[in-house]
Amino acid sequence: MVPTSSTQNRHIPVMLMESLENLKIKKNGIYVDGTLGLGGHSEIILQQIDSGLLIGIDRDKDSISLSKKRLSSNNNFKLFNDSYQNLNIILEELKLEAVDGILLDLGLSSYQLEDNKRGFSHKYESSLDMRFDKNSADNTAEDIIQRNELEELTRIFKEYGEERHAINCKKIKDLKR
Ligand SMILES: C[S@@+](CC[C@H](N)C(=O)[O-])C[C@H]1O[C@@H](n2cnc3c(N)ncnc32)[C@H](O)[C@@H]1O
Repeated sequence: MVPTSSTQNRHIPVMLMESLENLKIKKNGIYVDGTLGLGGHSEIILQQIDSGLLIGIDRDKDSISLSKKRLSSNNNFKLFNDSYQNLNIILEELKLEAVDGILLDLGLSSYQLEDNKRGFSHKYESSLDMRFDKNSADNTAEDIIQRNELEELTRIFKEYGEERHAINCKKIKDLKR
């Protein structure tokens, strides 16, 4: 599914006002939205800054293009298709030494969940991709499942999935061909 403006309208940013209140936005401040998504949080930040700057980052190229459209009535923003882990490099590129606030809305957006080709939802029969950056050389979830032994997979589900009952070997085994 190619995300459209209707998918964009459907995504409701979580704790929108609560998180933005805590940023204590100054009109001339520099703010980083490290998980831009469909730009819901960024749109409100932009409404509150005038001479300031918003830096939006997302690993997902589609999110970057949709947000770009959504935010296009402003010009004080810069978007990067990258990981927020590289924020220091991005700030160096922009010749900035500090910012006034950073927002991270971790997780995935509803359009990623509803995209029937990305493997994020059990509602659809699709290959298990689950990469935020689908153009990257990162392993897909399918690769990880096929290449690792059951013990390692159990550890992964337990540690990264915070799944207390990860030792459901049968289910994991069923995923392996
Ligand atoms: C919950 S959504 C953000 C929604 C956004 N706040 C909005 O209002 O539309 C999380 C986003 O983080 C992105 N993401 C996940 N890991 C990332 C990373 N390491 N660096 C940058 N973005 C990342 C995902 O692609 C997804 O678009």
